[in-house]
Amino acid sequence: MTTLLFDSLNYKILNKTARVGVIGLGYVGLPLAIEFAKAGYNVIGFDLNTNKIEQLINSNSYIMDVKEDELKEVIENGNFIPTADFSLINDVDCISICVPTPLTKSNEPDMSYIESAVNEIINEMHKGILITLESTTYPGSTEELIEKKLENYGYKVGEDYFLCFSPERVDPGNKTYTTQNTPKVLGGTTSRCTELGINLYGKVINQMVPVSSTKVAEMSKLLENTFRSINIAFINEMAMLCDRIGVNIWETIEAANTKPFGFMKFTPGPGIGGHCIPLDPVYLSWKAKESNFYSRFIELAQETNKNMPYYVLAKVSEALNSTSKSIRGSKILILGMAYKPDVDDLRESPSLEVFELLQSNGAFIDFNDPHAKTFKDAHNNSVDSINFKYEELGIYDCILLLTNHSSYNYIDIVRYSKLIIDTRNAFKNFDDSKIVKLGSPLIKKVHETV
Ligand SMILES: NC(=O)c1ccc[n+]([C@@H]2O[C@H](COP(=O)([O-])OP(=O)(O)OC[C@H]3O[C@@H](n4cnc5c(N)ncnc54)[C@H](O)[C@@H]3O)[C@@H](O)[C@H]2O)c1
Repeated sequence: MTTLLFDSLNYKILNKTARVGVIGLGYVGLPLAIEFAKAGYNVIGFDLNTNKIEQLINSNSYIMDVKEDELKEVIENGNFIPTADFSLINDVDCISICVPTPLTKSNEPDMSYIESAVNEIINEMHKGILITLESTTYPGSTEELIEKKLENYGYKVGEDYFLCFSPERVDPGNKTYTTQNTPKVLGGTTSRCTELGINLYGKVINQMVPVSSTKVAEMSKLLENTFRSINIAFINEMAMLCDRIGVNIWETIEAANTKPFGFMKFTPGPGIGGHCIPLDPVYLSWKAKESNFYSRFIELAQETNKNMPYYVLAKVSEALNSTSKSIRGSKILILGMAYKPDVDDLRESPSLEVFELLQSNGAFIDFNDPHAKTFKDAHNNSVDSINFKYEELGIYDCILLLTNHSSYNYIDIVRYSKLIIDTRNAFKNFDDSKIVKLGSPLIKKVHETV
């Protein structure tokens, strides 16, 4: 029976007659669903958010990396069916879970989204299905939240159904590495699970990386993102150190980066954001604590990165002070609210924290972001991006560049601003005393007027 189920699913996967389901059509799930649909699979995309489903049915993409013409094509040729009707899970042969894994208010892993997606599958469970969890989570989740639960319902993994974990590495806004050409790690609960997972994803991903277990696959994702968090924290600390001892961090990094081995470039900034780097290390340290292991690296990196908005605040204060002004009463324009360039994602963006800090210190703030047009402040008021004219930037006491979107005209910003605080080295090609850089001492007197 097991061999029959395996062979039949494998055959369907290989000749693309398998119906593929994707639960959660966000930054991760939507691009994945489109890749499967483009490859010729019949794909059903599930999401609780009926507004998103409506938009997709009308071929409106709400994810910047998903091109509308590609979406339109797979909607029109019937290869992609977005729906909020979870009974259709009954029709799929393979299902990938791409739902959020946030933190609770007490800073612990919030598994409720995965649990609810698993319940949706259980309601429509049938033998011979391949389930792949893609949401980032702590090692052991696939086993604890899916395998054990299905066992209670009488389904045995590797016999009645197949189970894998395959972490998503999508980097929103990255023009070089997309879902398709980023190597993908996958570990199954049994070797047959792995084989099916590799065969399915191998149809849409150029290079699959099989590993021996779901736990290794889960851990590999947390290792990648914890590595980033710690290295960013290190370079952020170096930036503050350089500022204190009178050295320019940016020039120092470029110099160090000429070493062809043994150095990897990371750059400082106003803090870390997005759904991954600020959260994922917490999943790992939380899990480790269960085994009485306390990761001091993870805690320290979190602390350093979370303090960066306060350093930005100090830098703004110092820069304004050099023009005989204080934060209180100053008019400040923030450029860039999204957590990184050329995306519209505001989740965990350090710009939000900097905004609150400046506002609570009495500054009058406008913000502009070409992609993230609105957000709710700490008092739940909507704050909207303003349109500005470069030649009118002189009305602000300072321009605070928090996210270096590529659409900004940096020449005109320098030309028309009184004072610029650059947290991203976006103005590296300008030698102007009115530019104050994060990670660099304020040695020259700043001009008061243009
Ligand atoms: N955003 C990234 O850059 C990125 C990169 C790699 C990995 N990840 C991981 O991928 C997972 C998903 O992240 P995302 O950024 O795509 O999140 P997202 O918020 O953009 O999308 C998640 C979607 O799931 C839907 N959803 C929630 N619960 C559901 C349920 N029970 N049934 C159906 N739909 C449901 C939401 O409505 C939303 O549309 C997370 O675990 C995240 O850590 C994200």
